[in-house]
Amino acid sequence: MKFCPAARIGVALFSCVLLSACVTNQSVAQKPKVAGAAANEPWMNISLDPDARADMMVKEMTIDEKIQLVHGIGWGVLRPGAVVPAGDNGGAGFVPGIPRLGLPDINLADSAVGIRGAARDSRYATLLPSVIGMASSWDPAMGHLYGSVIGRELRDEGYNMSIGGGVDLIREPRNGRNFEYASEDPVLAGTMVGELAMGVQSNQIMGDIKHYVLNDQETGRNTLNAVLNRRAMQETDLLAFQIAIGMAKPAGVMCSYNRVNGDFACENDYTLNEVLKKDWGFKGFVLSDWSGTHSTVKAALAGLDMEQPGDEYFGAPLKAAVLAGKVPETRLDDMVHRIVRSMFANGVIDHPPVERVVDPFQGRDDAKKIEEESIVLLKNEGGVLPLTAGVKSIAVIGGHANEGVMSGGGSAQVDAPGGLPGGSKWGEPVYFPSSPLRYLKEQAGSDAVVSFDAGTDVEQAAKAAAKAQVAIVFVTQWMSEGMDRPTLSLPNRQDELVDAVVKANPNTIVVLETGGPVSMPWSAKVKGIVETWFPGIGGGEAIANVLYGRVNASGKLPVTFAEKDSDLPHPHVSGLTEATGNNGMDGAARHGHEAKNFTVDYNVEGMLVGYKWFEVKDKTPLFPFGFGLSYTSFAYSGLKVTPDASSVSFEVKNTGARAGDEIAEVYVTLPKSSGESFKKLVGFKRVPVPAGESEMVTVPIDPLYLKVFSTEKNGWEMLGGEYKIEVGGSSAELPLKEEVSLTAE
Ligand code: BGC
Repeated sequence: MKFCPAARIGVALFSCVLLSACVTNQSVAQKPKVAGAAANEPWMNISLDPDARADMMVKEMTIDEKIQLVHGIGWGVLRPGAVVPAGDNGGAGFVPGIPRLGLPDINLADSAVGIRGAARDSRYATLLPSVIGMASSWDPAMGHLYGSVIGRELRDEGYNMSIGGGVDLIREPRNGRNFEYASEDPVLAGTMVGELAMGVQSNQIMGDIKHYVLNDQETGRNTLNAVLNRRAMQETDLLAFQIAIGMAKPAGVMCSYNRVNGDFACENDYTLNEVLKKDWGFKGFVLSDWSGTHSTVKAALAGLDMEQPGDEYFGAPLKAAVLAGKVPETRLDDMVHRIVRSMFANGVIDHPPVERVVDPFQGRDDAKKIEEESIVLLKNEGGVLPLTAGVKSIAVIGGHANEGVMSGGGSAQVDAPGGLPGGSKWGEPVYFPSSPLRYLKEQAGSDAVVSFDAGTDVEQAAKAAAKAQVAIVFVTQWMSEGMDRPTLSLPNRQDELVDAVVKANPNTIVVLETGGPVSMPWSAKVKGIVETWFPGIGGGEAIANVLYGRVNASGKLPVTFAEKDSDLPHPHVSGLTEATGNNGMDGAARHGHEAKNFTVDYNVEGMLVGYKWFEVKDKTPLFPFGFGLSYTSFAYSGLKVTPDASSVSFEVKNTGARAGDEIAEVYVTLPKSSGESFKKLVGFKRVPVPAGESEMVTVPIDPLYLKVFSTEKNGWEMLGGEYKIEVGGSSAELPLKEEVSLTAE
C-alpha cells in the first residue's frame, strides 16, 4: 500500500490498529531509498543484522566522514542567524548523512509531548497531555499510544529521530520540567516511558531517552553538582532509566547538563561507560544535551558518542585527538558504529519517512483518550461529581477556561493551531484552543446557565459564584524548561481566588491544570478537586467528560502531593536564590560568564524519593502517591503470592453502580537486613471491572525490584528474609498483605 487514507485531513474515524497496519504495509512495500550505486552495497542487505551492516559501512568511511557523524551542524533553526543546511528539516538537531554510502541525514525533533516548532514551517503537530498525566493512567497501552502519536507525526513531517522520552525522577516537585517526566517512582516512570519510546520506535523513528541523569531540577542545571551515593542512585534515578532503556532499546540516550558526583553527565565514566554501556548493554549512542559537552578527550573516553548541537569538541578537536592517539580510532569507530547500527535497527535507512500532512483529528482523538485516563479525581465530597442534569447553573471561573487549556513551555512547547507563524515564544504560557467552558456548556444542556468569569478580580468572581448552584474554578501552574517554581503554592494569588469562591458557594469544585504537585490550603473547604495536568489538545472535552461522568474518573497520582514545602526533603529548591529568581536557568553559565557551581545534596533523602520519604519520616501528605477516586468503588480480596514472589494474584470487585477501571498497586517492603524500612512499588495493573462484577488480577513482579544494589559487589543482590507484600488501590490504603520468606541469591 502506497498511501494511507487515515492520514488525510478529514478522515478522523480510523482506529489506531488500522493506522499502524497502514504504516507497516507502507514500510514493507518500500525498498531502501538510497541513491544510485549505494543501493547495491553489501550493507544494504536487509536480512543482515544491524551490527554487521554497520560494521561494513563504517569500514568504508574516511576519518572526516566519521567525524561528520559525531556532531551536529550548530544551533540551526534554534538560533536566528545560525546555519541551516539543505536537508535540515527544521528540528533542534541535524547530522548530515553520507550519500555515497547510502547513509541518510539524521533529522532530530524535540518531541517530549508532541513535535516542537511545527508552525515555523506551516505544519501542525498534536499536543499530547503531559507525560506526568499519561503516567497517571498507569496504563502501559496509553504510554505506547502516546509514543506512537509522536512517532507517526514525526514520520509525517519527515523527521527520523525523536528527542523526548524524559524519565528523570520527580525528586524535586517544583522542577519546571516535571510535566515532561512521569513519576517519583522508578518502576512506574521506567515502565510508562519505556512504552512511550517503544511507541515512537514502532513507527520506524529513532527514539531517545533523556536527560541522563539526575537532571532533577532546572535551577543551575548547567553547572550544579548532583551528589548521591551509588546505591541510592542505582535504586532510584538510574533504575528508571534502566527499565525504560531495557524495554525500548532506544537509538539514543541524551546525557544531561548537570554534574553527577563531580563529573559532568556528558563526560561521566561511571554513568555512561560503566552503567549504561557495560552493565545495561546499551547498544545505541549517547548524545549530549544541547551544549552539554564540555571536553573532547575526556568526554570521548567516558562514553559520549555525539555532540549536539555543534562541533566545538567533537569536530576538528576530536579529529586532532584521534590523529594524536589521545582518543583511539577504535573509539571513534565505536561512536560511529553505534549511530549507524541504530539507524539500521530502527529502519530509518531501509524505510525512510515519507512526508504527508499530519492528521489533526486522529491526533486529537488520541490525545483526548489519553487525557481521559490521566485525570485524577482527588476529592468528591457528597458526590458533588459527576455533575448531573439537575445542575441548572454553573459559574466557571479562571484558568482561561473560556479559551482553552494550558501547555508546558521550553523545548517541550508544541505550537498551538492558529498560533503565531513564527512559533511559540520561549517563556510565555501558551493556551491550546480546547475550551473546557465550551464542552461544559454542551453537556449542561440548553436549559442550564453556564457563566464565565476570568477570575482576575476576586470579588467579582465570588459574586459570580454566589449566583450559581455550582462553581468550578480552574487554577493553573505554568511550568517550563529553564525554571523551577520557588514553592508548591499556586502562582498569581489563585489560592485567594479559591478561598473567595468557596466562601461564596459551598458547592465549589477546583480543576487543576498544573505541571506537577501543588499545595492546596483550601482543600478541606471545597467539595471537589480534579487534577488534569496540562491536558493536551483534546483536554477541554476530556475534562467535561469526566466532570459530567460520561467517562469515569480513573487516574491515580504518580507523585506525592505534599501539604507544604517544609514537608519536603529540600524545603527550598537548591540554589534558587534571589539572584537566579524564579527563572532558575543560569543562562550566564551557558554564555561563558562565571559559572555558579553548587551542590544539590540528594543524599539528604537518598532512596527516600517521594512517598518513601513521607513513610519513613512519618509525615502525612495532602494526597498520597497512587491515590485517585472513581465514581464507583472497589474491594480487594484473596491475595495469593507465588512462593518465589514472582507474581501475585487477587480479586478486585466493583462494589458500586457503574463500570470503572481500577488501578491495582503492589508494594513490597524488603527484609530488615536491607536497611530499607519502606514499601516500594513493584507492580501494577489497570483493570476494567463492570458494575457489581469481580476480576481476578495477576501482577508479575520483576525479581530485580526485590533486590538491593550492593556497592561492594557492584551489582544487584537478593537478600534472604521476610518480604512483606501489600496490595491495594493507593500507597496509603493497602488492604491485602502477606509475608513470604525468600532465600538469598
Ligand atoms: C533541552 C533538551 C532539548 C534540547 C534541544 C535543551 O535545552 O534540555 O531537552 O532536547 O535543548 O532543544
